[in-house]
Amino acid sequence: EASPAPVRDLAGVRVVVSAGPTREYLDPVRFISNPSSGKMGFAVAEAARDRGAEVTLVTGPVTLPDPAGVRVVRIESALELRDAVVDAARDAGIVVMTAAVADYRAATQSGEKQAKVAGDVTIHLTPNPDILAELGREKGDRVLVGFAMETHAGVERAAGKAQRKNADFILLNYPTREGTAFGGDDNQVTLVRADGSHEDWPRVSKREVAERLLTEAARLLPAAR
Ligand code: CTP
Ligand code: CA
Repeated sequence: EASPAPVRDLAGVRVVVSAGPTREYLDPVRFISNPSSGKMGFAVAEAARDRGAEVTLVTGPVTLPDPAGVRVVRIESALELRDAVVDAARDAGIVVMTAAVADYRAATQSGEKQAKVAGDVTIHLTPNPDILAELGREKGDRVLVGFAMETHAGVERAAGKAQRKNADFILLNYPTREGTAFGGDDNQVTLVRADGSHEDWPRVSKREVAERLLTEAARLLPAAR
């Protein structure tokens, strides 16, 4: 059956969405990563497209196909993600960071496959740049949205992140909410602002979370564009 024509409330707005995991290579055949499926970010990109936005989706390795009508940039590492997001964000109105960025990368990357040795090995990791915080330092009137998964003290921790990174809000979820978060089709999130104010949203599809996120972000866009 035909669905109603979407509201084109984001016509003329450039939206940048990051999605999926990053891969931090130790050598040519091994990397550190995480199980992010990319579903949340792809849902945001598709929802923004359907509301008339010009969308750039910067994504780590996921099994999802490129959404039609979206500029897709495929990256692997956090450093590549940063370059692509910062570049695309230059003239963006809304940036949504759903990517599960690895906090660390190998301090040195071997160009050759590392052979097994006897006994324990130590891997030296060095911090990756915080992309959302970097965007927050030159925020202008861009709307910045983050995601956070917490196991405890979620609202306090997410509010602290919103404040430190200068994000307008963070959508918080918990790995223990069944069928949500990593790999699931639904999500149950809490919207958290830097001042600690927060709203629990019901468990809904990731597409519906995306729609609500964009409605909230659109309200924060400067009136005259
Ligand atoms: N983020 C980012 N760059 C990083 C790490 C995180 O842009 N290097 C973004 C994520 O995409 C997300 C938000 O920041 O939107 C919060 O990520 P999270 O991992 O919860 O925050 P961290 O500051 O890394 O804190 P933690 O120590 O809890 O991992
Ligand atoms: Ca992190």
